[in-house]
Amino acid sequence: MKFGKKSKISLEIAGADNASDYLLLEKLVGGKTYAALASEKEFLEEIKKATVYFFKNKDEIIGHITYRLNKNGSVHLGGFAIDPKYQGQGFGRKAMETILDLAKNAPKIDLVTHPDNLKAISLYQSFGFKITEQKENYYGDGEPRVILVWTSGKIAS
Ligand SMILES: CC(C)(COP(=O)(O)OP(=O)(O)OC[C@H]1O[C@@H](n2cnc3c(N)ncnc32)[C@H](O)[C@@H]1OP(=O)(O)O)[C@@H](O)C(=O)NCCC(=O)NCCS
Repeated sequence: MKFGKKSKISLEIAGADNASDYLLLEKLVGGKTYAALASEKEFLEEIKKATVYFFKNKDEIIGHITYRLNKNGSVHLGGFAIDPKYQGQGFGRKAMETILDLAKNAPKIDLVTHPDNLKAISLYQSFGFKITEQKENYYGDGEPRVILVWTSGKIAS
């Protein structure tokens, strides 16, 4: 499997025209452990508040993530998903490496996932993220979420 420079997947910023591609993948991965965006309206709100990146392998979109830079310099990551047909092949790890490289100067990076999402949790922990707390009914869907935080120091890869 070949990747670009420094083994990175390429990033492309999603715009209003990309709602259907984005929502297609959300539908495929959404469920108890991943709160998917379900409408164009939600997607348009998302790209107003933050940068949504597509991960691309060659010319094909293989996943996406939301990257929000806060006023204090910290970064919040959300909506991380790899297309099921590409999962389990190392693309999630490469995608995380690529996005953490963008955020490498942030004093703090946080993200949220479901406590049963062991695959995602083990991926995040392998980069030095630590679970700081669990919140019940975090998105109002009746499901708990854990908050994972990475703070200063080198991001392990
Ligand atoms: C979570 C997700 C992004 C991972 O992407 P992926 O391409 O499958 O991940 P990779 O193949 O790069 O594997 C990355 C790591 O996941 C972990 N992992 C993979 N399969 C696993 C399994 N069955 N059980 C536990 N951990 C597993 C490992 O830590 C693996 O690390 P390794 O490189 O040392 O093997 C992907 O499964 C996904 O999109 N899931 C649906 C949406 C979602 O839940 N997103 C996270 C929301 S916070």
